[in-house]
Amino acid sequence: MSYLQIVYASRPLGYDPAILLSILFQSRANNAQAQITGCLLCRDDIYLQLLEGPAHSVRRIYGKIVQDDRHVDVTELVRQTASERIFGKWAMRDDPFQSWMWTRAEVDAGVVKKVPPDEVLGVFRRLAQDMPGSGD
Ligand SMILES: Cc1cc2nc3c(=O)[nH]c(=O)nc-3n(C[C@H](O)[C@H](O)[C@H](O)COP(=O)(O)O)c2cc1C
Repeated sequence: MSYLQIVYASRPLGYDPAILLSILFQSRANNAQAQITGCLLCRDDIYLQLLEGPAHSVRRIYGKIVQDDRHVDVTELVRQTASERIFGKWAMRDDPFQSWMWTRAEVDAGVVKKVPPDEVLGVFRRLAQDMPGSGD
């Protein structure tokens, strides 16, 4: 089986718990149906999301996300095919940013756009390892 994986970073617009909940609620319903899994990392200054699944589904959902006015500056960081999912059992895992990720100052300085694709995927792989039942 081959999957498309896309990771993008963006800047939240009007970030608050209610918005986040509605995004996650929508995501989990749509993604389960489209066989998409992934992880949405969020802080008030950044979203970092991994989407993975059948290529046509990932492209379709990503097309909607890019146009969503709850965030801006959507920057694609990774687009690749893979033989395995990272988050096999999560329609859309969420998790607050951990301390080993980027500081606000680093995000402000645009660090995320300069991180190599392997390192970006490494962030998600580490998170998946820390969560029981994440893998396929
Ligand atoms: C940061 C962010 C992440 C999102 N992630 C997803 C997602 O993983 N899956 C999804 O279906 N919609 C996601 N959305 C919402 C979509 O942009 C869009 O509102 C939604 O898919 C529309 O669903 P509908 O066509 O069922 O109304 C996300 C939105 C934002 C702002």
